[in-house]
Amino acid sequence: MKILEKKLEKQLEPSKFPRHIAFIIDGNGRWAKKRDKIRSYGHKYGIKACKTTIDNCLRLGIKYVSMYGFSTENWNRPQEELDTLFELFSNFIDTELEPMLKKDIKFIVSGDYSKFPKKLVDAVEYAVEKSKNNSKMVLNLCINYGGRPEIVRAVNSIIKEGVKEVDEKTISNYLYTAEIPDPDFIVRTSGEQRLSNFMLWQMSYAELYFPKTFWPDFNTKELYKALINYSKRNRRFGAIKESK
Ligand code: IPE
Ligand code: IPE
Ligand code: MG
Repeated sequence: MKILEKKLEKQLEPSKFPRHIAFIIDGNGRWAKKRDKIRSYGHKYGIKACKTTIDNCLRLGIKYVSMYGFSTENWNRPQEELDTLFELFSNFIDTELEPMLKKDIKFIVSGDYSKFPKKLVDAVEYAVEKSKNNSKMVLNLCINYGGRPEIVRAVNSIIKEGVKEVDEKTISNYLYTAEIPDPDFIVRTSGEQRLSNFMLWQMSYAELYFPKTFWPDFNTKELYKALINYSKRNRRFGAIKESK
């Protein structure tokens, strides 16, 4: 196992890493089902994969990491599953905040997290406040997030401020991601090839990658494979050039 990891590690090209990598976390439920377990079991292991991936990105020097963990459409799931997810999110912040603060990680949030149970709202607010001066890596937690609601919210804020004309920069400045660059690379696990309302504005030129792996199995090797795949791409941005 470790041999393959080392082999992949040798193929990494840090100068060609994405500045901002965004993960659409998917496949927790199917991962659990395959093991005859309930969906919550998959979410629990999904959180572990989040921790591993965050640590790996930090170690590799990736500056911005987004994790899509709960969409505005996920409220349609059974209450029991929602309760488990909220509990897991709260525990994740409770146990990971101190180590992540020490690692100089800054938490930001995309999404209207005020709709969550108070315990989670408080934990998120505390993490954002406590980490606001950190600078090694920005971890953008996308929770109760949807790309369309985000754009609607931005437009309403712009109207409220009496702005008469907008340009692209204005729109970007009113999104949750105003302070971070657009994602260069979007990774969605589990084999589904759709965006599910994720960063619709920001992804205009993102590279997309859809590994079949279910999220709880997204380990160091999987991240290496993703980064190697990205480093081979030719991002042209409409121009004619041979390499990045
Ligand atoms: C991702 O896994 C976690 C969330 C969206 C909260 P899923 O729960 O969507 O797992 P599948 O897609 O049903 O396997
Ligand atoms: C996408 O996963 C949303 C998140 C990862 C938070 P879903 O599992 O909810 O998406 P669909 O329903 O398959 O599109
Ligand atoms: Mg899913």
